[in-house]
Amino acid sequence: MAATPGSTKRCVIWFGEPCPREKILLAAEGWQVRTVLPRQAAGIGMRANDQVVGVIDLRHHSGDELEHLEALASEHRHLPLLGIEPAAPHDDDARTHRLLSACRQRFAHPLDLDELMRRLATLDDDPAWHRTDDVFDCLRGESTAMLAMRATLRKFAPVDLPVLITGETGTGKEAAANALHRLSQREGHPFLAINCGAIAPTLLQSELFGHERGSFTGATTRRQGLFENAHRGTVFLDEVGDLPMEAQTSLLRVLQEGTIERIGSNQPIHVDVRVLAATHVDLEQAIEQRRFRSDLYYRLNVLHLSLPPLRRRDGDIELLARHFLRVFRAHHAVRARGYTSAALQAMSRFHWPGNVRELLNRVQRAAITTEDELIDCADLGIGPSADALARDPAGNRIDREALLSCLAQSRYNVSACARLMKVSRVTVYRLCRRHAVRLDTLR
Ligand SMILES: Nc1ncnc2c1ncn2[C@@H]1O[C@H](COP(=O)(O)OP(=O)(O)OP(=O)(O)O)[C@@H](O)[C@H]1O
Ligand SMILES: [Mg+2]
Repeated sequence: MAATPGSTKRCVIWFGEPCPREKILLAAEGWQVRTVLPRQAAGIGMRANDQVVGVIDLRHHSGDELEHLEALASEHRHLPLLGIEPAAPHDDDARTHRLLSACRQRFAHPLDLDELMRRLATLDDDPAWHRTDDVFDCLRGESTAMLAMRATLRKFAPVDLPVLITGETGTGKEAAANALHRLSQREGHPFLAINCGAIAPTLLQSELFGHERGSFTGATTRRQGLFENAHRGTVFLDEVGDLPMEAQTSLLRVLQEGTIERIGSNQPIHVDVRVLAATHVDLEQAIEQRRFRSDLYYRLNVLHLSLPPLRRRDGDIELLARHFLRVFRAHHAVRARGYTSAALQAMSRFHWPGNVRELLNRVQRAAITTEDELIDCADLGIGPSADALARDPAGNRIDREALLSCLAQSRYNVSACARLMKVSRVTVYRLCRRHAVRLDTLR
């Protein structure tokens, strides 16, 4: 039977010390890293089920330590070993070579980090591991912020506690909730999502908890609610800040006692459901305004997953733009096959208030409308042309998005922004006021 990610661990035993980027990359790919300094490597504990790989890191060792590593390599003959070659040869070259050839006996040649990550990925002959690739299909990104987010998500997934997911609109909160479910033991049972803000408050209680026949006008039959239908699975409460007070009280009961009551009944019904919730409003502020129960907030916020805004994900804008275009081209006959360098630059500087969803929409629109093979700024509708702005000294035609984009391009420096827009600093401040842009929160 294929192992589930909950029961089998993937461990890298790293003889030496991975650098911070290596650690975060490994964690994001689901590898637990145990670092072992050569002298302390007395007993290496492994569970029978675990998938374990040794990495002999030869970049920072010499002398005695190499001797210890050599002893370890021969002691753990059955451990798959990968060797990372030093950039420059060690003084103790004969030993380094012997160690590398020990690794070579098990793998064809020594590795650099990229190669190592590829090798670790191909070591997985268990199909259960491959599943995690498509779990993260909707959470792509190689920026440090996204790697850290995925590493946290992997830690939270198997822990059967609520997770509060926060992030601006379009950052992937629902995608993250889905990944949490799919990487948990509840996978295979229902994942039911509901947008608490999109359903009339009078109907929400019945949607979530169900009702008995005749419990209110129109209740002609008994109806099970979302929590009963999701038994043994996961409920995702999107826009949880919009939950009416009555439903908040019932939800607190689910979290505290694991029971619900249908409308019109006093009979508690046991439900086994994990609750994930998302919000893009500040719940602490909602608590201050007495719109949200603080006890419920603390129950929901046991684990907190924060999705970074797209503008803070270095390098991911281009990666995602190319990915979305590739996917679109696979299903539609369009000429566009790439981007001009001006478009790539404009995208990397854009503010992206609608985050990944906005990028996806702009790419698809541009792919349809452009006549050329390369998508340009105008096709994407970003990167306001300096000429157009120059003919607009009072800034009357500058909308909020153009203003935010110029501010982002000038790293929220008002003088630089004024120069870019060819207007005065006073105009920039006036525009910020007009469009309710708060510089202090953006910087
Ligand atoms: N990192 C990503 N890689 C690939 N696709 C992504 C990524 N992030 C988001 N998407 C896609 O962008 C769209 C928006 O994501 P999602 O609905 O999860 O965002 P959200 O934070 O829930 O938005 P909202 O706040 O508006 O509810 C979806 O189509 C999703 O698949
Ligand atoms: Mg959403």
